[in-house]
Amino acid sequence: MSTPVFRLATAADAYEIAVMSRYLVEVGLRGWSWHPERVAKAIRARDTSVVVVEVKENLVGFAIMEFGDIKAHLSLLAVKPSHQRCSIGRQMVDWLEETALVAGISTINLELRANNFGARCFYKMLGFKEMAYIPGYYRGVETAVKMSRDIRRAIPQTGQLTPGSAA
Ligand SMILES: CC(C)(COP(=O)(O)OP(=O)(O)OC[C@H]1O[C@@H](n2cnc3c(N)ncnc32)[C@H](O)[C@@H]1OP(=O)(O)O)[C@@H](O)C(=O)NCCC(=O)NCCS
Repeated sequence: MSTPVFRLATAADAYEIAVMSRYLVEVGLRGWSWHPERVAKAIRARDTSVVVVEVKENLVGFAIMEFGDIKAHLSLLAVKPSHQRCSIGRQMVDWLEETALVAGISTINLELRANNFGARCFYKMLGFKEMAYIPGYYRGVETAVKMSRDIRRAIPQTGQLTPGSAA
């Protein structure tokens, strides 16, 4: 596979992201929640990061994360089937996690459809924990699983001052 290029989304990406949401994330659900106008609003929002991934100038993945004061919410993440299992999803989450750490965020939360077992494995592999089931979360009919990850890292022990070493 050609090297994927990661960048922030622009307004021109909104329609394609919305279509990917409809067919990869919202598939089988009534209505279109992440329609192009909503995605465009997220791209413009100061408290939201929208990341896209291109391979040979074709959009193959995207992620949307909203930032609060101490928590961030991963609203959407998808990779086209042709490019799944190539670490693109993991790298998008890594990008957003670094951004969140710099912003002083300690926790990333997300919800996903309970029957999406592949994505549940993916998030567990990234260190997310399943916290709760939320019946009817999607369009009043489908159950969500709430997942959460504490992204704070331990302070490295190397280079620590030892007694008597202070100048
Ligand atoms: C979930 C999703 C984003 C994962 O993206 P991806 O780029 O394929 O994931 P990665 O290649 O980074 O996977 C990293 C690891 O996660 C795990 N993983 C990923 N997809 C998995 C699956 N379907 N089943 C089990 N484990 C999976 C594996 O351990 C994988 O490592 P490996 O390929 O070396 O075994 C992608 O499958 C997708 O877009 N699905 C449809 C949309 C969706 O469900 N989005 C999430 C809810 S919003």
